Amino acid sequence: MENNTASRLAAAYRTHTCGELGAAAVGSRVRLSGWVQNWRDHGGVVFIDLRDRYGLTQVVFNPEKAPQAHATAHTLRSEFVLEVEGEVVPRPEGTVNPNLKTGEIEVMVEEVKILNRAKTPPFMIDETKEIGENLRLQYRYLDLRRQPLQEAIITRHRVTKIIRDYLDEQAFLEIETPVLTKSTPEGARDYLVPSRTNPGNFFALPQSPQLFKQLLMVSGFDRYFQIVKCFRDEDLRADRQPEFTQIDMEFSFVEPDDILGLVEGMIDAVFKGVNGIDTGAPYSRITYAEALDKYGLDAPDTRFGMHLVDLGEVFASTSFKVFRSVLDKQGIIKGINLKGGARLSRKEIDDLLEVVKIYGAKGLAWIKINEDGWQSPIVKFFEEAEIKALGEAMGAETGDLLLFVADKPSITNEALGRLRLHLGEKMGLIDENQLAFCWVVDFPMFEWDEQDKRYVAIHHPFTAPRDEDLDKLADDPGAVRAKAYDLVLNGIEIGGGSIRIHDPEVQARVFSLLNISDEEAQEKFGFLLDALSFGAPPHGGIAFGLDRLMMLLLGRNSIREVIAFPKTQKATCLMTGAPNTVSPKQLRELGIKLKG
Ligand code: AMO
Ligand code: AMP
Repeated sequence: MENNTASRLAAAYRTHTCGELGAAAVGSRVRLSGWVQNWRDHGGVVFIDLRDRYGLTQVVFNPEKAPQAHATAHTLRSEFVLEVEGEVVPRPEGTVNPNLKTGEIEVMVEEVKILNRAKTPPFMIDETKEIGENLRLQYRYLDLRRQPLQEAIITRHRVTKIIRDYLDEQAFLEIETPVLTKSTPEGARDYLVPSRTNPGNFFALPQSPQLFKQLLMVSGFDRYFQIVKCFRDEDLRADRQPEFTQIDMEFSFVEPDDILGLVEGMIDAVFKGVNGIDTGAPYSRITYAEALDKYGLDAPDTRFGMHLVDLGEVFASTSFKVFRSVLDKQGIIKGINLKGGARLSRKEIDDLLEVVKIYGAKGLAWIKINEDGWQSPIVKFFEEAEIKALGEAMGAETGDLLLFVADKPSITNEALGRLRLHLGEKMGLIDENQLAFCWVVDFPMFEWDEQDKRYVAIHHPFTAPRDEDLDKLADDPGAVRAKAYDLVLNGIEIGGGSIRIHDPEVQARVFSLLNISDEEAQEKFGFLLDALSFGAPPHGGIAFGLDRLMMLLLGRNSIREVIAFPKTQKATCLMTGAPNTVSPKQLRELGIKLKG
């Protein structure tokens, strides 16, 4: 028999994969290897879906044609590994499966070899119902056999390939940077690694390759990138892992527009390459101030409206004591208008109070705009003119629910911003198919930390101030804006970067503003300050969270769904049992003594 469909993946155990045989192969003799996905007996004939990464092929064991193979088929179970050999035949009338690449054919098995047996798996590989995540993480290698993770991991490979090709065309060089290194301040806690050869000393795992990529610019590589693991010991959420992957880039001789334009091309190439979607570059830009003003958050979800409205003017001379005292303490009052929300019950409104409380708000005032007038526990405190001005500012119409928070600016913004997202989701205001990209620009350089009574860098301490704000560094640091930018997709920050300081004198001034003494700066970043003094070119860059990008690209609700071996919310690996205790000998060698 002629084999008329030679496969480029033919190997010792197979002539073809389980995902490639079609009508053209009918009549050829083939050998396939893979896993038993499921098993059916129809009137004595056994049908098995044989699975590998490439797909499923139905293989048939007929007792009349191949009695021995058929006898073996009766001993097979899910997830056994088989090698089968036989003839490709067309499926009988009415049994063609148009949803399957191999749905027109089946393989009439003549010989079968059991390559390996399998215990009954803790969950079925073709299970479509939800399986407990802990079980999935414990048996991740089995979970990875399942379609959703196969798709995620394979697409992830395609995405990094598209990115590498795109950046290669743009003259970027992929250069590796150390994993055993020194602390890089990105705002999280470091993971530390004790040094055996230097007792009492520790490496830090990089929170990002920030300093090394700047040094590569000093070395003249001009354009660097790396798809690289970063490590941050921080509180975990659905979009945070202790180790995650960045698409990290740095450029020389650029201003923000050069960087933004180039990476828009990259993101666009990714979405076009994976699902043919045009992302609509160039993306809109919004200043940090406007993002906070309208959305309350620095990563705005622009897929729906319901903007925050500042009511400082409306209530400037209010005598309602809750609002009065907040305004008198430099606080702010903001509101949102939930269209049609007047039908919410008292209980539902009380539940909204619980949402804002998470973010520190002390109360949530509300007004229902009913047919027969305004219903609210607070309207009785307002003057006629205030009510009129409020209605206008909020665009209030019959059927609306107005919600207000009054507090310090940071609390008011975050609480109402999060409430807006909560309501957007709960009330179905978000078009899940929309991709809303936006750049957030003009971040302030510094933020005042109330607790520590000092300024902290919003991006990181190597970010350059805007040229026109340089002279405010000394007297009004809070007003200095940075040459920094974040890319936000559907309310999630997928990337962030900045132009860096390339002048050692400016870098020293910024360190001193951040309360980093000369000695501390020398000790921690002396090598960078030195490098800046040896002819550093103007440079800047950006890093994207690959896991977050994949999550959004595939519409998954956690980055754990796009990482082969993720960790739990408690930063553990349920499969390997890491982290774990080590032997006293190992500790002795490291000069470490455990307390208690
Ligand atoms: P930044 O700290 O903003 O910038 O990080 C860049 C991007 O990395 C992703 N990210 C994470 N993803 C998963 N889990 C985490 N714990 C996590 N933390 C961050 C986010 C974020 O936008 N060196 C700078 C970049 C630069 O200035 O060039 C940096 O690391 O998507
Ligand atoms: P009180 O006078 O504390 O009973 O509050 C009257 C109304 O104002 C109640 O509906 C509270 O939920 C609301 N409220 C109290 N504090 C705040 C606040 N900080 N912001 C918004 N509303 C508040």
